[in-house]
Amino acid sequence: MNAAIDLVSLDELVTTYGDLQGNVLLRHAKQCAAHVVLRFAPGEAARQQVAEWLRETVAPRLTRTIDQLIDVDPIRFPTPYPVLVSLLLTASGYQQLGYEAPADKAFRQGMHQRALNDPPVNSWEEGFTDPAQVHALLLVAADEAATVQATLAALRPPAAAVEVLTVAWGHELPGGIEHFGFVDGISQPLYIREEWERYCQRQPSGELRWNPATRLDQILVPDALSAGGQGFGSYLVFRKLAQDVPRFAANVGRLAATLDVAEATVEAWAVGRFKDGTPVSEAAAAGLGPVNDFSYADDPVGSRCPFHAHIRKVNPRGEHDSLAATADTENRIARRSIPYGAVGDPDVGMLFMCFQSNLIRQFELIQINWSNFADFGRLRAGADPVSGQGNSWERNKHPHWPRQWGQPERLQHPWEQCVTMRGGAYFFAPSPSFLASLS
Ligand code: HEM
Repeated sequence: MNAAIDLVSLDELVTTYGDLQGNVLLRHAKQCAAHVVLRFAPGEAARQQVAEWLRETVAPRLTRTIDQLIDVDPIRFPTPYPVLVSLLLTASGYQQLGYEAPADKAFRQGMHQRALNDPPVNSWEEGFTDPAQVHALLLVAADEAATVQATLAALRPPAAAVEVLTVAWGHELPGGIEHFGFVDGISQPLYIREEWERYCQRQPSGELRWNPATRLDQILVPDALSAGGQGFGSYLVFRKLAQDVPRFAANVGRLAATLDVAEATVEAWAVGRFKDGTPVSEAAAAGLGPVNDFSYADDPVGSRCPFHAHIRKVNPRGEHDSLAATADTENRIARRSIPYGAVGDPDVGMLFMCFQSNLIRQFELIQINWSNFADFGRLRAGADPVSGQGNSWERNKHPHWPRQWGQPERLQHPWEQCVTMRGGAYFFAPSPSFLASLS
């Protein structure tokens, strides 16, 4: 199979991309993670203390992408990384440190200024309500919470110069599911040649139906502040998304009763996959599992997988390429999310995270123009029942559901929003050499 895209090889990564933090090109697959949101105190004395802390304490412990290569080729790169440490900055964090922030317009404005249909900032959770005060995110991940705690203790910032605004803990759920019960993390863009080759080996023979091969410039940007300008960084979206599990179940129950179809079918029409990962565009019932080599070419009218279904909204797999200004490959995001809360807790959800090189062309296009927009996919398709964020002026956002799998007749039926944004920010993962050079 031909990638048709010049993917980076592991050898090239080692020689050219050493100055790049971890979790960007390769997700950490750790079981739990602390996301520590930080504010830097004002004034020159505090600035110097923050710079010293980042240079002397954080920078030497940062995980780099090249430390994660065991996850791609454990024979050539056998060294494990038991803990992942990453440090990211907001635009105001750069300002506070006395540096010009990376150029992305949305990054410089901040998430709170963007038209994402989010609840008002003053209703966001503590730690996020004053966006100008959110300066950095320290991410520590490991398989055991005790290891994360011990690493956080070793990284403790100077109290006079750095305030911890909030700590968001994430924990993987058994079976790699998210809180609505669906297997997650199946479909990702692939940037590394060997990863892509391994993916191809797992697919049935013949041409790929959807090619996850993605150019590095869709996720990396050169870090102008790195040593010799040779380092790289990436923009991170961080959003705490609360999931109302009882409301999701009530939506499913009502619609299944109205249409007289199985609840599992309605669930799959909301997400685009059955709970075991089977794409509903490929099969009328669960059983195929988390296959990923499919497109929507065989379902042009959305009678198997409706156009509003979450995965069809957020990745139409090229079906609009002939109409769109950008190609499918240019809108992809690298998801790095982790669930929060234990099953059965009243407050559960997802710490949604994704990396990209352009916030407007990637995350914002997906969230605003696709997920939130009832007329994306097709006119009156309906908003995304999972990640669509509603607003007060949208009149016709209720999705149109097939009456039966594979039949063109459909019914417009309400779906109450069951995912709510609770706070977040745009960050940048600077090159390790920048953090090591702060003075
Ligand atoms: C609580 C909120 C969310 C839940 C429960 C959720 C759940 C899921 C599930 C179950 C899948 C299928 C597994 C897979 O294909 O990997 C998926 C895929 C995906 N989601 Fe979400 N998601 C959420 C929010 C978001 C948001 C906010 C975005 C972006 C704006 C997003 C973008 C994606 C993408 C790009 C895929 C892969 C689609 C594909 O390539 O076929 N998700 N999500």
